[in-house]
Amino acid sequence: MARPHNDNFLRALLREPVDHTPLWLMRQAGRYLPEYCETRRRAGSFLDLCKSPGLACEVTLQPLARYDLDAAILFSDILTVPDAMGLGLYFAEGEGPKFERPLREEWAIRDLEVPDPNVHLRYVMDAVAEIRRALNNSVPLIGFSGSPFTLACYMVEGGGSDDFRHLKTMMYDRPDLLHRILDVTATAVVDYLNAQIEAGAQAVQIFDTWGGALPAHAFREFSLSYIQRIVEGLKKTHDGERIPSIVFTKGGGQWLEDIAGCGCDAVGLDWTTDIGQARKRVGDKVALQGNLDPMCLFASPEAVAREAKRVLDAYGPGTGHVFNLGHGISQYTPPDHVSALVEAVHEHWRG
Ligand code: CP3
Repeated sequence: MARPHNDNFLRALLREPVDHTPLWLMRQAGRYLPEYCETRRRAGSFLDLCKSPGLACEVTLQPLARYDLDAAILFSDILTVPDAMGLGLYFAEGEGPKFERPLREEWAIRDLEVPDPNVHLRYVMDAVAEIRRALNNSVPLIGFSGSPFTLACYMVEGGGSDDFRHLKTMMYDRPDLLHRILDVTATAVVDYLNAQIEAGAQAVQIFDTWGGALPAHAFREFSLSYIQRIVEGLKKTHDGERIPSIVFTKGGGQWLEDIAGCGCDAVGLDWTTDIGQARKRVGDKVALQGNLDPMCLFASPEAVAREAKRVLDAYGPGTGHVFNLGHGISQYTPPDHVSALVEAVHEHWRG
């Protein structure tokens, strides 16, 4: 299978020469787009949308129809994995994700099993295959998963949390139980990402959204070590092409060298890190992805273009940079400000 016609995204991740800095946006398909809201209404709910391969494909392509983006990302959610483990995911209107059966009891943790992605997450693999057909080799498709630690945060808390009280109590009192959850989940994530790769994902990103909430030693023990295990277990090639991996730890800038050493091809940075300094710190070990403050998109198109240029200049010329936001795009973002961003990035090194 040949590479996509526009393969700048894959090239930048592999630190091969590019003809412009490629960009995509975390949560590029989402509620800031009226067409997304329309498809979601037709689906009935966010989960029904995720579980319908045809509609998931439709929303995956929506941001690409509007903007000149260099990659598509599978439309799904990181919490489909714990859902497949039997925790019962649901979304209460305006409250974010919740689990019917949070993991708190020792017996439930002992009983946790690795789901077969081609059975319990078949709808994701079907969406990947359908999106690849629809993309018709125009741009690469990114697959993704949550990191075991980030998934465990939701599994133990039973939903979002400000302080991760239940999870951290378990971590300090019963680290053996948390390690058991992380161990099963890491195996589940390896199987899940490899199934996505076999279904057609051309790069994968691991979202470690909550790793930055940990003390440094605990980040290594409870988050990074499992991410490393996943990266080691990933298929490195498919159909003769390299499948690059990206690790994004929100709040992980202080541990950049450690993260860059986990075996991944690229590290995602949130907006708090200076990407120029980050480049010096990692050298040619990994590519970097990021890292515009997503809130900057609320400012005028002129300010958006100026701040995009600031990130591009901070990284400097040469390959190894995938432009992105430092975290997911807000649902209140004006869509035309995103156009200004995409144009500014594409014009920059082309001159
Ligand atoms: O980037 C993309 O376009 C791909 C789709 C994607 C979604 N979620 C769609 C989504 C991806 C990659 C995710 C990952 C995800 N999901 C993460 C890690 C990334 C991050 O943001 O840190 C996390 C922590 C989740 C869990 C999750 N899913 C939360 C906390 C929420 C609620 C968010 C909110 O603002 O209400 C979701 C729901 C969700 N996932 C939406 C979308 C588009 C909004 C749901 C809706 O349409 O109502």
